[in-house]
Amino acid sequence: MNDVWVSLEQVEPGVQRLRIERERALNALNADVLDQIEAALDRAEADPASRVLIVTGQGTKAFVAGADIEAISRVDNEAAALAFAERGQRLFRRFEESALITMAAINGYALGGGLELAMALDFRIAAQTARLGQPEINLGIIPGFGGTQRLSRLVGPGQALWMISSGEPVTAEEAKALGLVDVVVPADALMEECLRHARTLAAKAPLALAAAKRLVLGSRDWPLENGLHREAEAFSQLAVSADGREGTQAFLEKRAAKFQGR
Ligand code: COA
Repeated sequence: MNDVWVSLEQVEPGVQRLRIERERALNALNADVLDQIEAALDRAEADPASRVLIVTGQGTKAFVAGADIEAISRVDNEAAALAFAERGQRLFRRFEESALITMAAINGYALGGGLELAMALDFRIAAQTARLGQPEINLGIIPGFGGTQRLSRLVGPGQALWMISSGEPVTAEEAKALGLVDVVVPADALMEECLRHARTLAAKAPLALAAAKRLVLGSRDWPLENGLHREAEAFSQLAVSADGREGTQAFLEKRAAKFQGR
């Protein structure tokens, strides 16, 4: 039987936690781990009550210390290396395309593929002890799971190029100042902080939440006119949806809204 390196657990109503559990290799991503992450994402998405997915790493030392360097060292042809990079890129893209709101609970090192995974998620909450970076340059390579593209979009091309070409990691606080993480908390408060935000999000109208994610992420790619058109279209659909009706009515009746995802 294959090793099991990923767990998925419902931690609260509507909130699931995906944990990468390969602590002895600092949760490094090999092909099996990537496959297991994808299978866990499939399971999380298959649950109609699921709203928020928290992704974290096992232990206190690492979120994910990168793609598996041993696996990369064994690759001996360009086609295989391309397939590995595209495998990771496709998987991380799926988190962006998911209707689930995703959150990285960065419990330690988020390096290389670990930072690339975190950057493909919607929110990043980091322990004070976390270190984030793209150290691939020290191995004679560059990021391959989306790092050059997402880091640049998050922190701007100057900072991104510095981090990628120097390989130097930043502290959680530095990452926050750069806009690379959203919240920094003491390590022992990390999961509770994630749950607090997850709870807030899980209580919102699901279709509105999914539309907000789709439109904000899409804004990176669309010309403004096109994005505005898509926004107005989504707004109009949501305004007449059951949850849109319920939300506005509940406000006027001074009561809490009960959303149903319709
Ligand atoms: N791939 C494979 N194995 C990894 C790994 C990775 N990306 N990162 C860490 N490991 C393994 C180490 O080889 C070591 O295994 P061993 O106990 O069998 O020797 C184990 O995890 C613990 O790591 P170690 O380096 O001993 O811990 P440390 O506290 O001295 O250093 C780091 C921690 C994160 C600074 C260091 O592990 C590191 O630099 N990792 C690589 C980061 C990287 O370059 N990522 C991008 C990869 S493309």
